[in-house]
Amino acid sequence: MELFRVTGGTPLVGEVSVAGAKNSVLKLMAAALLAEGRTVLSNTPRILDVTIMSEVLRRLGCDVSIEADVLTIDVPSEPGTEADYDLVRRMRASINVLGPLLARRGEVRVAHPGGDAIGSRGLDYHIAGLKRMGAEITSEHGFVIARADRLHGATIWLDFPSVGATENLLMAAVLAKGTTVIDNAAREPDIVDICSLLVSMGAKITGAGTSTLEIEGVDSLRPVAHRVVPDRIVSGTWAFAAAITRGDITIRGAEPTHMEIALDKLHSCGADIHLLGPGEGFRVRMSERPKAVDVVTLPYPGFATDMLPMAITLAAVADGPSMVTENVFDARFMFINEMLRLGADVRTDGHHAVVRGKEWLSGAPVKATDIRAGVMLVIAGLRADGVTEVSDAYHIDRGYPDFLAQMKGLGADIERIAVPDDALPF
Ligand code: EPU
Repeated sequence: MELFRVTGGTPLVGEVSVAGAKNSVLKLMAAALLAEGRTVLSNTPRILDVTIMSEVLRRLGCDVSIEADVLTIDVPSEPGTEADYDLVRRMRASINVLGPLLARRGEVRVAHPGGDAIGSRGLDYHIAGLKRMGAEITSEHGFVIARADRLHGATIWLDFPSVGATENLLMAAVLAKGTTVIDNAAREPDIVDICSLLVSMGAKITGAGTSTLEIEGVDSLRPVAHRVVPDRIVSGTWAFAAAITRGDITIRGAEPTHMEIALDKLHSCGADIHLLGPGEGFRVRMSERPKAVDVVTLPYPGFATDMLPMAITLAAVADGPSMVTENVFDARFMFINEMLRLGADVRTDGHHAVVRGKEWLSGAPVKATDIRAGVMLVIAGLRADGVTEVSDAYHIDRGYPDFLAQMKGLGADIERIAVPDDALPF
């Protein structure tokens, strides 16, 4: 087991650069399955989840290699049809091979991913949508099994603008016969990114970035080269880290138009935000104690649920009380138990949390429960008195490239250490 040990008291100051978005590249990798031949993705983040997805694709018969930030995927004429439990368990995004493989091969078996530490995560929207497009779907021995000779177009209304369901249905629809309409579709920049990849592969899609996607199926697609959209959640992490530690961080390569509400919240709490030129990123400076602000998470363009731990951590050191409301995942507040160990004053009631800010938190051993919670516990440790140890460090590897080096570059007193499992307090 590895943990991050951080000593509090140092503001983060300097520059970081942001790579492509985890939640985009994983789906772009799945989309590569739609065309035989070589897909090339640049601006790929070097993170554990990309390594896991590469393994998913290899087991489906693809050749996958990465050099610097360029990922190359060579897809055979007949990719495999099964994504096994071992890999799907490690990363839920493996479920995104369901749509493309069904469209391409007419059958697919994917292990059911189940829930995780942020809440229950159903597949019902994915399954209901694919059924409307003519698929027969059963669930047997922990696997979702889908079959369809040729999917056909359909009108699909999503109960909730689910990112994963929108992507799976989109990838199935591009090769279906006829026109598919996805209403109440997700609008995240990741969706716009996958639409732009699919369109350059030859798909016919309109409405990317709106709640209604219209897809006219085509017979085949061609592989292309594509640059992954910058990671708005990693960008937002550094932006909030600057405010929480009262530092000054220039975030190179970030796209401010993808995170307007998050930046507006930082502005309201007193941060100074300076936009650099187009494509260059922005700078966040905070010299005073942040003022308390209320935050409500919602699907894009709302405040991202993946930024909930950032909002709670900011509120925990802000001047005054804040109310933070989570509307997407039912267990995202699990992270708050770890914040309580750091001395944060937080009371939850249903999906609302009332946070009364303190000038300093208090260093303690804590556990990363997911990627975003993990990274924010480390940042919280910088605004805590003494030493904070964040165990289960691998969660952070799943989504933050070069995290240790970037933190050190910003002046953090941090190290990564391996400890035997029985030496951990929990
Ligand atoms: N939902 C259902 N049924 C479904 C699908 C979703 O009930 O068939 C529910 C979920 O339980 C949840 C809500 O709908 O309450 C939204 O889930 P969504 O499908 O949008 O999430 P996802 O596609 O599983 C992606 C990201 C998450 C991010 C969410 C929301 C990836 C790999 N994951 O998950 O990112 O929080 O969208 O924006 O893209 C992370 O990066 O740390 C992370 C968890």
